[in-house]
Amino acid sequence: DTTPDIDLALFGALGDLALRKLYTALYHLDRDGLLGASTRILGLARQDIDAEAFRQRVQQALKKHVKTALLEKTCLERFIARLDYLQLDFATVEGYDAIARWRKDVERPMTVYLAVPASIYGDICRNLSASGSLDEQTRVVVEKPIGYDLESSRQINDAIGEAFPESRIYRIDHYLGKETVQNLIALRFANPLFGNQWNQNQISHVEITVAEQVGIEGRWGYFDKAGQLRDMVQNHLLQLLCLIAMDPPSNLDADAIRDEKVKVLKALKPFTQETIGRDVVRGQYIAGSINGESVPGYLEEEGANTESRTETFVAMKTEVSNWRWAGVPFYLRTGKRMPEKLSQIVIHFRQQPHYIFDPDQRDLAANKLIIRLQPEEGIALQVLTKDGGLDKGMRLRPGPLHLDFNSAFPKSRIPDAYERLLLEVMKGQQYLFVRRDEVEYAWRWCDQLIEGWKARDMPPRRYPAGSWGPVASIAMITQDGRSWYEDY
Ligand code: BG6
Repeated sequence: DTTPDIDLALFGALGDLALRKLYTALYHLDRDGLLGASTRILGLARQDIDAEAFRQRVQQALKKHVKTALLEKTCLERFIARLDYLQLDFATVEGYDAIARWRKDVERPMTVYLAVPASIYGDICRNLSASGSLDEQTRVVVEKPIGYDLESSRQINDAIGEAFPESRIYRIDHYLGKETVQNLIALRFANPLFGNQWNQNQISHVEITVAEQVGIEGRWGYFDKAGQLRDMVQNHLLQLLCLIAMDPPSNLDADAIRDEKVKVLKALKPFTQETIGRDVVRGQYIAGSINGESVPGYLEEEGANTESRTETFVAMKTEVSNWRWAGVPFYLRTGKRMPEKLSQIVIHFRQQPHYIFDPDQRDLAANKLIIRLQPEEGIALQVLTKDGGLDKGMRLRPGPLHLDFNSAFPKSRIPDAYERLLLEVMKGQQYLFVRRDEVEYAWRWCDQLIEGWKARDMPPRRYPAGSWGPVASIAMITQDGRSWYEDY
């Protein structure tokens, strides 16, 4: 099925997200024949440049971010020819009518992409409405973070909602566009082997790790107000948790899936002062080294306020209080400046009811399903087999049944999350986008944690850059007789 033609009006056309991710994704879609033949892209930004200069900026960005082998002259020319540019002050309505003029006599629908801070979503939506730029078909794409807490996210969602109905709002959480994240849905609901085991009778606990090697990368101003809980847990980690924990939707419709995710968010166990002290660890990195290179601490980064208590790491234990999951801990951890970039989910199954092998090996005796989101996307099931050789008796040996996507399907390039998400917007499919109530329930849960932290008034625990986080995050799981999974 072909992708419909659209006009894409991109606000923030010279910003970091657009230059780093969006043009690259659009170029790849074009190269793969997945952009409508007459789809056009209108860049909107404050800078006073002309369309030609804009095209050059985009071309430079593509040269930087697309693999040279994939940067073919004819594709590049075709893509660049789709681009146009309009200088615009987003805050005032003057100038917005140029968008309608640009689209004059064009029948295809418009999608507005807001690659700008959420604090100006409201202004842009109001001005688009007031200038008559919108019609019954216009869609809007917005980026996280939507707000700072429940209250501010409501205000932003209200402002967007005045200009667009929910059915035309596409809230991006780019983790939902990652290939392996979607594979979670396939894995759980297409394979009876897993589908039937997916509950507290069979699963003892679940781990979600999203470790990043990068630090703050020049975003100190933004990050210091947010912290790792708002930046990563409120959205990416909770979305992963929802996809693992949700009940089977009755079909793949956007609302069928999102209804199930919302039920999980509502069932997350609330924190109390006691559980915040025991089951949550906040950390902040100090100077250390990564891959043998020294890196500065969070408080020594450019632009840092040396008094900051913002967390760059969070680990926590939570639970989904319902029939399927009662008593199964979900351990979450995410941090900046960790030893490697690693996003992985580990499902730990329960042991056999009766054990007949060497008692020394009892700890091995549980299957694990490891879902690796990045790098090297793949799925491994750790099973136990007999150790080879005549002298080993009935010794057990753990080994993986391993599906590595790159070697199993070597010809297919794994698309970037933004390619998938942009394509779904163009096709009008919302199942990979976050509905308003999901955002708000996620904030509600995070807000109590933030309030609890405020009340305790504790500084974050230090961890050296290049380590797996504060020692307390390891103690948090070992006190339950478990450990963070390390091998793959
Ligand atoms: C973004 C966060 O949403 O996700 C960043 O704002 C973070 O701080 C990034 O680095 C991680 O995304 P990915 O795809 O590299 O895991």
